[in-house]
Amino acid sequence: MTTHRQPAVSLPFGRAASGYGAAVDVQVVVARRVADLCAGCCLVGNAGVLDVGCGTGILTESLAALFPTAAITAIDVAPAMIREARRRLRDLPRITWLEKDVRDLPRTGSVGLVASSSALHWSMPASVALERVMAQLVPGGWLVCGMMVEGTLPELRSTWQQTVPGKPFPVALPAAADVAATARAAGIGELEVIQETETVWHASASAVLRRLHQQGVTGCNLPGPRQLLTRGELQRLSDTYDRQWRAADGRVPATYQVLYLKGKAVGGSAVGTGHGARGTGQGGF
Ligand SMILES: C[S@@+](CC[C@H](N)C(=O)[O-])C[C@H]1O[C@@H](n2cnc3c(N)ncnc32)[C@H](O)[C@@H]1O
Repeated sequence: MTTHRQPAVSLPFGRAASGYGAAVDVQVVVARRVADLCAGCCLVGNAGVLDVGCGTGILTESLAALFPTAAITAIDVAPAMIREARRRLRDLPRITWLEKDVRDLPRTGSVGLVASSSALHWSMPASVALERVMAQLVPGGWLVCGMMVEGTLPELRSTWQQTVPGKPFPVALPAAADVAATARAAGIGELEVIQETETVWHASASAVLRRLHQQGVTGCNLPGPRQLLTRGELQRLSDTYDRQWRAADGRVPATYQVLYLKGKAVGGSAVGTGHGARGTGQGGF
């Protein structure tokens, strides 16, 4: 089994790990929203909780608070992210941290809740990641996730296409409708689908680009070698972004389309049969 077969993603996220906490913006909003959606979930029996693509543990920390007696496992493909999460949350020994690609997880069928924030869109195709996530759940187990979908960073994409048309935009995100259809096909029932737009305002285009780099989001999830921009292309991109998108107050937007999914593995019912948030679920994964 190959554990780190996604270097295009794990390398930039790994490099970003130590500064990630200071650079996140939309990720905090998404993690909070996912945690709110998890708050209504009951864990079947003693099944544990799994955070997929945990990064430095922003969502993991909330999950530990929501499910104070559940066993919590957090996985990430980037070893440096796991190290940073472990360091940051060293006072929470109940969390098991694993360096793992979601697609390499064994099919345990033992988890009561799989949660994920701002991560699953990095694991393409989404169908493979979602199938493997589903294979973790006990019947009646919950999936709650928030991920970026097509339509994200339209300002950067359109500026890129105008200024460096010969180089492909380095991130391909799934379409919301495809992800929802994939989740249903993978066996998620009672599926709640919510799409929200989040806009983060920055002082300039170069601040947008710097922030994306600090977040590790410059990782290319397209197959094939990355085509880096030259210094001149980067300058043109930045100048055009500023010129076309600057608002009256001088700031420029970076807009995200965030898709939230909440549903249950069909084949059982978690409602009222197990231990809820703040209940007594343990172990399982
Ligand atoms: C933008 S960060 C989000 C981290 C965290 N969930 C948060 O809300 O701040 C995305 C994370 O997903 C991880 N990731 C990407 N693809 C993955 C995969 N196939 N398996 C496990 N983790 C993955 C990256 O290494 C990175 O730490």
